[in-house]
Amino acid sequence: DLLIGTAVAGGGHHETMDYDNPFYASPEYRTVLAGEFSSVTPENQLKWEFVHPAQGEYNFGPTDDIVAFARANKQEVRGHTLLWHSQNPQWLEQGEFTADELRAILKDHIQTVVGRYRGQIYQWDVANEIFDGRGNLRTTENIWIRELGPGIIADAFRWAHEADPEAKLFFNDYGVEGINAKSTAYYSLAQDLLADGVPVHGFSAQAHWDMRWGLPGDMTANLQRFDDLGLETAITELDVRMTLPEDGRPTDEQLAQQATYYTETLQACLDVAGCKSFTLWGFNDQYSWVPVFFSGSGAATVMFEDFETKPAYDALVQQLEAA
Ligand code: G3I
Repeated sequence: DLLIGTAVAGGGHHETMDYDNPFYASPEYRTVLAGEFSSVTPENQLKWEFVHPAQGEYNFGPTDDIVAFARANKQEVRGHTLLWHSQNPQWLEQGEFTADELRAILKDHIQTVVGRYRGQIYQWDVANEIFDGRGNLRTTENIWIRELGPGIIADAFRWAHEADPEAKLFFNDYGVEGINAKSTAYYSLAQDLLADGVPVHGFSAQAHWDMRWGLPGDMTANLQRFDDLGLETAITELDVRMTLPEDGRPTDEQLAQQATYYTETLQACLDVAGCKSFTLWGFNDQYSWVPVFFSGSGAATVMFEDFETKPAYDALVQQLEAA
């Protein structure tokens, strides 16, 4: 009953405007997406700058298309994300709003977006990346926390729950796969919110790995402590980047090592009873965010650009068959 997911590439534009988007442009991409995965996450399409590009104007087309695709292929949909410091539209970040106005804007956004997909999105990343690496709330970067105070986090969960009582509501972040200051900050916050009756249902770790670093040895223990609080857990954005050789093609050794990052992350999820959702952040190197953001790095997904599978793909399949 473990859902195996992927991000669906693309920005916020409709078919006619976004020729490079493989979800529209590549039949092979769609075939693999439909055939290999039981869960899909819009990679960008539900972020504020895309779904809410002008005040009060929503752009639901791209997500509607993904939701329809998922339904046709018997897949679940993860929602990403509602309260974040990044990829907010200019009208919001540069606007001059009073606190009351901002609060109303957030409430309306959450109720409109979550409400539209009521019953069709099984997990929502309500709050994304709200802590920094030291475990402090991002009180300057995050417009909501900065302008409205940390209490807005609980309100966001409450509004999302009102809009879709069936959806499981998550905290999601990177750098929280093992036990450290940041994951412990989430652990404490989750305890407080649960004690206050706030509808928080899950904690998820993104798992954007770089092969220059080792993996934390305590991933299972970390997910387990959230499980013990009664929360669901999930891996939501797994990819494994590496420094590429000059010809751009990873070596066999690199590919073998990459496979172990993938399988160890899957194993942590398999080891924890309430980890029911395991998502890759894309499945084909051509459409991965990694080379765009880290020059010289790449090959982070389980398939080469021509959809040829890597050792990481085979290792995951084998592990799932054995589980
Ligand atoms: O669609 C527009 C296009 O119209 C425009 O011409 C072009 C010019 O900049 O930008 C396009 O938007 C880009 C978008 O991806 C869609 O391709 C943005 O610039 C680019 O910044 C954006 O990057 C995304 C990134 O989040 C932004 O923060 C990545 O695709 C996406 O994979 C990445 O995902 C995040 C998760 O949401 C949260 N966790 C970390 C993860 C990796 O950074």
